[in-house]
Amino acid sequence: MILLRTKKELESFLSLTKNNDEIGLVPTMGALHEGHLSLVSKALSHNQKVIVSIFVNPTQFNNQDDLIKYPKTLEADIELLTQISSELAIFSPTVEEIYADGVKTKSYQFDGLDKVMEGEFRDDHFNGVGTIVEMLLRLTKPTRAYFGEKDFQQLQIIKKMVKLQQLPVTIIGCPIVREPNGLAMSSRNERLTKSMRNEASFIYKTLQTAKLKFGTKSAPKVIEWVQEKFDKHDSLKLEYIEITDVETLTPIQRKQKNVKYRAFVAVYADDVRLIDNIALN
Ligand code: PAJ
Repeated sequence: MILLRTKKELESFLSLTKNNDEIGLVPTMGALHEGHLSLVSKALSHNQKVIVSIFVNPTQFNNQDDLIKYPKTLEADIELLTQISSELAIFSPTVEEIYADGVKTKSYQFDGLDKVMEGEFRDDHFNGVGTIVEMLLRLTKPTRAYFGEKDFQQLQIIKKMVKLQQLPVTIIGCPIVREPNGLAMSSRNERLTKSMRNEASFIYKTLQTAKLKFGTKSAPKVIEWVQEKFDKHDSLKLEYIEITDVETLTPIQRKQKNVKYRAFVAVYADDVRLIDNIALN
């Protein structure tokens, strides 16, 4: 395992790779779990070299408190990654190293992909994500970069940014890894009590039933059904349910043939905000 702390160290690592070596990049903010590790395994199966970046990016947090509280567990993360492969390079720079010219967020034209769901509730969040991912791609120059469908909107926004900036990289989306009870894995699950972690399996169960209903019922009916299910639930509060076209992320008006749809939810379990989504067709 190679730990790179500066851009210079990263550069010399890259200068030692062979010309035809394919490089996979897995960007993360650390506090790693099986979801992250599935991306790393996929990257290892496709590329000769894999870089995992661990960087808690200040420009994507609209709440300073959230940024301060974000778990920083570098030693444990290194341990987990070493168990998967001794061949990995970990790029874990400081904020000053990355934002040497000051912490600035770039603005992108995401064609509305950033205006719905997570974008609606988190001002400028996706410009912050675009800013850091563009920097990481320019620094590491990977052949492929890996992102989870857990953050499906983020995945689509990154594909758009790569197109806009004409970056020579293939973006690979990876399926959601779940706990045995169906709850989507997330660093935030650590903040749930044991009983809430069980209760939260309701989120995926509801999405699965919504998918079945989507086969025969209209989208507004499915949305209404999901809202009612959460209204009746004591401890989980639904922030939003949306059904959108997977490409444009525009909310569905009426089902169309040959269009792929997904349902997306954000749910509060006590003060922990959880997101999940499911392919509907
Ligand atoms: P982070 O939340 O650490 O997630 C890193 C990557 O792991 C993302 O692509 C995310 O979608 C994926 N991931 C998280 N949980 C997953 C799960 N249960 N199954 C599959 N994949 C999962 O997302 C970010 O960091 C940041 O926004 C980042 C892209 C690194 C930019 O700062």
